[in-house]
Amino acid sequence: MHEEITHPFVQHKLALIRNKETGHKKFRELATEITMFLCYEALKEIKVEKVTVQTPIAEAACHVIAEDLVVVPILRAGVGMLEGILDLAPTARVGFLGMYRDETTKQPVAYYQKLPEQTKDGLCIVIDPMLATGGSTAAAIDVLKAAGARKIVVVCIVTCPEGLQTVEAAHPDVTIYTASIDERLDDHKYIVPGLGDAGDRLFGTR
Ligand code: PRP
Ligand code: URA
Repeated sequence: MHEEITHPFVQHKLALIRNKETGHKKFRELATEITMFLCYEALKEIKVEKVTVQTPIAEAACHVIAEDLVVVPILRAGVGMLEGILDLAPTARVGFLGMYRDETTKQPVAYYQKLPEQTKDGLCIVIDPMLATGGSTAAAIDVLKAAGARKIVVVCIVTCPEGLQTVEAAHPDVTIYTASIDERLDDHKYIVPGLGDAGDRLFGTR
């Protein structure tokens, strides 16, 4: 299952982040802002519990978050979304999965893994700006499931039909939230129109 967040503020910021003239400082700020909006939607069903709060006037019946959240950025571009989700959920734990796409085969290569113990019981939120072929995201979900994770959602900034199909076929129980389902992949497996190489644009490496 997937959901495209079409809110005008998200789409406005997406127009800015796609622009090839946007430099890495602004790109990082926009990635943070877009992530907050996407995660606001992605986390709308998390567990809450009732509490009573004393206002200056009277008692108020309130709700507070009662879900253990584990945010899992896929290194390296996923780190560009970390600040945005932690602004929203500051007590979340963070696990890291290192993966890069082999330049020739375009297959994901795993090189690092450090997950918190709570991965089994919490809601895992995989963050990566680009879900292209879907290989990296599907492999990340494989790792999380092998670690015992039962509840997983994916938040990405841009994806495409091929990538959604791959992840949904492998993991039909995982919902994907995105700001855009773009047209297609090009011959180099880059998303068209996409926003280019997210890692390079975030960290100024090109
Ligand atoms: C990018 C992106 C995803 C992956 C998407 O990472 O951040 O992790 O490619 O492609 P896929 O859906 O076809 O697997 P990249 O390999 O460029 O590494 P980086 O984050 O270190 O730049
Ligand atoms: N990785 C990126 O950074 N961009 C793409 O379009 C595809 C993979």
